[in-house]
Amino acid sequence: MRKKIVAGNWKMNKTLQEGVALATELKDILAAEKPNCEVIIGTPFIHLATVSELLKDSIIAVSAENCADKESGAYTGEVSAAMVKSTGAEYVILGHSERREYYNETPEILKEKVDLALANGLKVIFCIGESLEQREANQQEAVCKAELAGSVFHLTPEQWKNIVIAYEPIWAIGTGKTATAEQAEEIHAFIRKCVADVYGAQIADETSILYGGSCKASNAPELFGKPDIDGGLIGGASLKAPDFKGIIDAWK
Ligand code: PGA
Repeated sequence: MRKKIVAGNWKMNKTLQEGVALATELKDILAAEKPNCEVIIGTPFIHLATVSELLKDSIIAVSAENCADKESGAYTGEVSAAMVKSTGAEYVILGHSERREYYNETPEILKEKVDLALANGLKVIFCIGESLEQREANQQEAVCKAELAGSVFHLTPEQWKNIVIAYEPIWAIGTGKTATAEQAEEIHAFIRKCVADVYGAQIADETSILYGGSCKASNAPELFGKPDIDGGLIGGASLKAPDFKGIIDAWK
């Protein structure tokens, strides 16, 4: 059985003190009431070491939101996969549409990042998804397939076990506009088929595919009720513990 996952993506929010307070609140809530899924929080780099230490004995895993496409050396301001790993973080989010769009991360750059993340023992939450324009031109399947082919389909089956896919239609991110559960399921099933074409049916069946884009407690049960939706990657609604817990509860 593949893993059910609810992952938060704090993006560029929370000072260190605010982040520690949120992680502590979540830890306490989830210690009191065990979740029915894996819970991950994606935090800015500066929180990783402190929050990983804080959550060491909890069920919550910690993720970075990015890592460098170079191993080490003279790259001022960058943070390597090895550095992320050394904080105690287990995951890294790569390929987010905001990184692709605002920081010009190409499939080739992302491929380097994925390889370095895996080589350093991190698991990868790899994001894909189409823009509104591409959706209106009915190109969502071609876009998702190309994003997978460009950055992760070169991996070996053994490496693939450390990949979680997040389908995030760009038009639904932070817009309050969610894909309908039917729209999401349709593309999730397609993504699983793409994975099956490369890695076979069994590995595809074991791959967790998350939905992201204005997911909240009110729409999570319907989305997570679909057979190919294995959880969510949550932005805005991961910034307050009760909101995030509401989504985690969708697996109850
Ligand atoms: P959102 O962001 O939940 O705020 O729409 C999701 C994401 O970008 O991961």
